[in-house]
Amino acid sequence: MGEPVDWLWRDRDSFADLFTRYYTDREPESLLVAERDGSVVGYLSGCADSARSHGASATEIRRLVVRGGLLRPGVAGFLWRSAFDIIRDGSTVQEDLGDGRFPAHLHINLLPQGRGIGLGRGLMNRWFEGLRSAKVPGVHLGTFAENRNAIRFFESCGFTRQGQAIKAPGFRTREGRRMHVQWMARLLAS
Ligand SMILES: CC(C)(COP(=O)(O)OP(=O)(O)OC[C@H]1O[C@@H](n2cnc3c(N)ncnc32)[C@H](O)[C@@H]1OP(=O)(O)O)[C@@H](O)C(=O)NCCC(=O)NCCS
Repeated sequence: MGEPVDWLWRDRDSFADLFTRYYTDREPESLLVAERDGSVVGYLSGCADSARSHGASATEIRRLVVRGGLLRPGVAGFLWRSAFDIIRDGSTVQEDLGDGRFPAHLHINLLPQGRGIGLGRGLMNRWFEGLRSAKVPGVHLGTFAENRNAIRFFESCGFTRQGQAIKAPGFRTREGRRMHVQWMARLLAS
């Protein structure tokens, strides 16, 4: 959502492992960074074929649980709430869109000082160029439906919403409301 995650998940290492380990360790060729005045102010972490990253998040969750995550301050609350949400909802969010027209996926985040000056669009265009030269037909992403700025940004980059937003286990707004994942996708030919 563009703000530090500490209020929801204080254990920084496990958060970084869960959301970035696959991209830094297994597919660094699809990881781009944006610089401003000589400092890194953001990144796009991509995966050209989501079949390659299948199971990566589940592996990280298992690692975290085995290392005592369910008792560790700063993350235990999130994990238990997620488990209750999954039981109550009777379903969870799948790991990727699962539509063969859009095999690639991405995550993108900029620090406040890097936003609103075209760096996000620049990262996207560079990533699209790489995918086109690798003949990848399309790309998707999951964002929070509540992140209206991000949705507008992705729409301006050619993405459209795919299906209804889905309840995201564990995640809450600061006011305590459930959050939802919205899948978005675009073809790369145009
Ligand atoms: C969302 C984000 C990646 C956009 O990158 P950015 O560099 O700020 O965006 P750009 O400056 O390249 O803007 C490109 C276009 O996106 C749209 N856009 C960008 N930020 C917007 C905002 N806050 N509200 C509405 N539209 C926005 C505009 O149409 C803009 O085009 P314009 O400049 O011609 O008007 C970045 O702001 C960010 O990291 N935000 C916080 C983290 C986040 O929400 N990440 C997404 C998680 S899924």
